Amino acid sequence: MHNKKIGIIGVGNMGEAILRGLSHKGITGIVVSESRSERREYIKKTYKVAAAAGNRELASQSEVIILAIKPQELKGVLQEIAPALESSVLLISIAAGASLGAIAAILGKEVRLVRAMPNIAALMLESATALAAGGGAQAPDIEIAEEIFNALGKTVVIPEVLMDAVTGMSGSGPAYVCLFIEALADGGVRMGLPRKDALALAIQTVLGTARLLAEQGEHPAHLKDRVASPGGTTIAGIAELEAKGFRGAVMEAVAAATRRSKELAKIQG
Ligand SMILES: NC(=O)c1ccc[n+]([C@@H]2O[C@H](COP(=O)([O-])OP(=O)(O)OC[C@H]3O[C@@H](n4cnc5c(N)ncnc54)[C@H](OP(=O)(O)O)[C@@H]3O)[C@@H](O)[C@H]2O)c1
Repeated sequence: MHNKKIGIIGVGNMGEAILRGLSHKGITGIVVSESRSERREYIKKTYKVAAAAGNRELASQSEVIILAIKPQELKGVLQEIAPALESSVLLISIAAGASLGAIAAILGKEVRLVRAMPNIAALMLESATALAAGGGAQAPDIEIAEEIFNALGKTVVIPEVLMDAVTGMSGSGPAYVCLFIEALADGGVRMGLPRKDALALAIQTVLGTARLLAEQGEHPAHLKDRVASPGGTTIAGIAELEAKGFRGAVMEAVAAATRRSKELAKIQG
């Protein structure tokens, strides 16, 4: 990837996160295209990157193009860059709900396509990202996409049919975690803790637990067993969560969000 010319179209929240991740990895020579001039100047200055005069110019200069525009802007941008795309170009779209088939149909030509679904934690280079490859993409293309998104966190490669499940799980997941953190802090406040301290403790509890699991490779059930001593406080709390259907509620949330992702993809398509 280090010797590839990478272009990013749309440098808003996610485009900037991708740029930051690549910069952290020492990748240079990135070209961006951004419709908002103020934003474009900020990006150029902050990341010392070049800005193309337009999307078509970027497309003709780049070997890897990352589409980080909103889904509603995708069709127009694809139509704009299609004439400039060589068959060797790797096109990576992060637009939620836009299928590989829909993108290929708009382009009307054979290209190497990868679809990515990162999440908001990309802003902290801690994204959980799923990648799905289109028919034209070869193994080295997927490796390049993995390398790009590994610069933003952790990456898995899945068949595209599972993308709605990813959207409903790790895409929407940060909101579920926020709900849990808020509820945990509310629980502390209810038991008399000052709000500020309760929130700080709740955030650190989730962060520390996640790091333990991620860095030590421990299974969550095992860590839970280690914390829950016989007849102790934690098992009393867990019993209450189980009685209130906590796990079932989380699983149903993922199922509902997955269904909604499928519905929205149909409407968009
Ligand atoms: N945010 C997330 O958590 C998340 C997670 C997963 C996937 N995604 C996907 O990531 C994509 C980007 O989301 P975002 O939150 O980063 O959006 P965003 O902050 O609005 O960024 C998009 C940027 O592209 C610019 N733009 C619009 N049309 C353009 C064009 N024709 N050429 C060049 N630049 C153009 C926008 O400028 P204007 O403001 O002037 O339009 C904006 O600065 C979306 O497709 C979304 O589905 C986002």
